[in-house]
Amino acid sequence: MRSWLFVPGDSERKIAKALATGADVVILDLEDSVALANKTAARDIVAGVLSNRPETSCQVFVRVNALDTGATVQDLAAISSTPPDGFMLPKTSSGKDVEQFAQLTKSDLPIIAIATETAASLFNLGTYTNLKAPLSAMTWGAEDLSSDLGATSARDDTGHLTDPYRLARSLCLAGARSALVDPIDSIYASFRDIAGLERECIAAARDGFTGKMAIHPDQIPLINQTFTPSIQAIDQAEQIVDAFAQSQNAGVISLNGQMYDLPHLKRAEKLLERASRYRPQA
Ligand code: COA
Ligand code: MG
Repeated sequence: MRSWLFVPGDSERKIAKALATGADVVILDLEDSVALANKTAARDIVAGVLSNRPETSCQVFVRVNALDTGATVQDLAAISSTPPDGFMLPKTSSGKDVEQFAQLTKSDLPIIAIATETAASLFNLGTYTNLKAPLSAMTWGAEDLSSDLGATSARDDTGHLTDPYRLARSLCLAGARSALVDPIDSIYASFRDIAGLERECIAAARDGFTGKMAIHPDQIPLINQTFTPSIQAIDQAEQIVDAFAQSQNAGVISLNGQMYDLPHLKRAEKLLERASRYRPQA
């Protein structure tokens, strides 16, 4: 899934809008965007939306409160009779948290973990492999991590992420790929700055992320576009796959003056698999 749009669980108005944005996933949030005083109201609203879902092509996930808050069980209880399409678990410190959470959900519904929100979590990004839990994606977050690290900002004066957050981003990517789940890039909070968002989307897609989280409807078209394989990329991938198919048992081939070996073949196959799910724009 390419675009994952957060929407505060206590805002019926925004939820109705979010479901019509064309986001691949809408994340009804019960965690950080909902004030403590509104948690119960948000649970009721989210349960209401899930039990009376409008006709929409997007998947609807729920972000619960973190395991150490003690509120996760209440979140799950509120939606037990109207389950979402999946869950987002914030502030995981290792794969064990995902296993513990999966037991609480009493279901096989997919889980996306936000796996870099505490200082300690950075040392555990390799622990999400072979879990007894339906982990389907991993993402990372700079906001909570920066407060845990004691930083004043996660970005420098030019708007670029500083080293600790680039590290978290890279470890999340490697952790997700080694766990054979989708790596999803973090949010871009300056939602009026579309050029800045584009820069991050292009970098994320180049590095191997398969989607990006969003906080505002205006961010969705660009995210969907960037993470949909282009016609040129599909064409090139097809040429690589065909060339390998025609050179039986070759470990390496040449095509248009370039060398391609097995990692290139794997990458081309992955791209074609993604292209089969999302229609590219001309
Ligand atoms: N989902 C659905 N609709 C949204 C939205 C979202 N995430 N963010 C904004 N909108 C709506 C607004 O309600 C507004 O609709 P309206 O004119 O009918 O009232 C419209 O889009 C334009 O919004 P805009 O005025 O540009 O922004 P804002 O000042 O209303 O909201 C934020 C800015 C950041 C508060 C808002 O985008 C938001 O709540 N984002 C999600 C935050 C979140 O969930 N964070 C947790 C994860 S990090
Ligand atoms: Mg947070």
